[in-house]
Amino acid sequence: MKIISVVGARPNFIKISPFIKEIEKYNSLSRNSISHILVHTGQHYDNKMSLNFFNELNIQKPDINLNIGSGSHSEQVGNTMISFEKVLIEKKPDWVVVVGDVNATLACSVAAKKMKIKVCHIESGLRSYDKSMPEEINRLVTDRLSDLLLTPDKFSTDNLIKEGVKENRIVFVGNIMIDTLFNNINKVNNISFKELINNNLVEDQVISNFNYKNNFGIITMHRPSNVDFKNILKPLVDFFINFVGKRMPLIWTVHPRTKKQLIKFKLWDSLLYCKDIIILEPLGYLEMLKLNMHSQIMFTDSGGLQEECTVLGTSCITLRSNTERPITLYENGGVSLLSGNDLNSIKDNFNLLVNKNFKSVKPELWDGKTAKRCLDAILSYN
Ligand code: UD1
Repeated sequence: MKIISVVGARPNFIKISPFIKEIEKYNSLSRNSISHILVHTGQHYDNKMSLNFFNELNIQKPDINLNIGSGSHSEQVGNTMISFEKVLIEKKPDWVVVVGDVNATLACSVAAKKMKIKVCHIESGLRSYDKSMPEEINRLVTDRLSDLLLTPDKFSTDNLIKEGVKENRIVFVGNIMIDTLFNNINKVNNISFKELINNNLVEDQVISNFNYKNNFGIITMHRPSNVDFKNILKPLVDFFINFVGKRMPLIWTVHPRTKKQLIKFKLWDSLLYCKDIIILEPLGYLEMLKLNMHSQIMFTDSGGLQEECTVLGTSCITLRSNTERPITLYENGGVSLLSGNDLNSIKDNFNLLVNKNFKSVKPELWDGKTAKRCLDAILSYN
């Protein structure tokens, strides 16, 4: 059997890592080895957004990099399809495995299906029911086309059944990102907090007062709906500086898209000079895990962090008005409150969650064995 796995953007590397290790394990134990090719579309290309993850998660270097780079959605998807089709023609895989919901996921599943190659989608069935999110379009199209749909939770399975997907094509496997979390959690002990901060500061900042043993919060934001408009981003920045920052120190790990917008809207300097907020470069996987484990509260619009907070028991203010991951919500037994970018709602939720000490929550099959179930599902597909 020949499998091509596709990655393109930062969260994909974290999801594919345990799947690749599972293939390696299978090949070391079985006589019928799987020929595996890793294709990186190149959507993320900075070392801090890409290469560093391959190194620290010990993932094989991509066999092929399509070097697509940044661009509009259509440019990214179109260029990926054109390049990936050439790979498919040459390599003739039996399966293309895509993960998550980024542009690479959509582009490569479409290219594969047009060549009558089977597609397996890991993290299938998530729905925000919000088509203004590019990721929702990517999920809908990918799931519509996939032969094998591997879901992280029962909500996702139900979504697919409601959409008319035949049940024999859906397998509930659990959350593959949590495999990576369990595989790596012990490694964070070796990371020094002081070095983590000092090695990742964006520019000179005054940080002498920062004591991580006290409660601190983390901010991450990169969704276009939060960072692409000044009338939304500026009040959020002011709120972090003038309200949350006055109550607890904050660490903001800044995504390149967000940095560009903060500079464009002339908000960057006010953040750098704010002594209550430390601004860091995008962090590696282990560094972010370390911060998450030690923090009191997370402000984020990232789906992956919502999930990691759930398993680590970190209170999470989700800076979105909807989520494709309802299992992480407080009302469903999780740790996250949907807050959108409305300041009153963020403030209320902050007051509610700030002193909560959640225990770790492990939804069904978030047990570190998802990658094995993914590979088993592919091997037993007929
Ligand atoms: C993408 C995914 C999003 C995911 C996020 C994780 C889609 C539609 N979006 O969003 O679902 O949550 O990745 O990070 O696929 N840039 C750099 N260096 C890089 C990559 C990007 O500077 O290595 C900058 C460029 O200015 C680029 C911008 O960031 O235009 C946005 O990057 P892009 O890959 O288009 O989308 P993300 O916002 O990262």
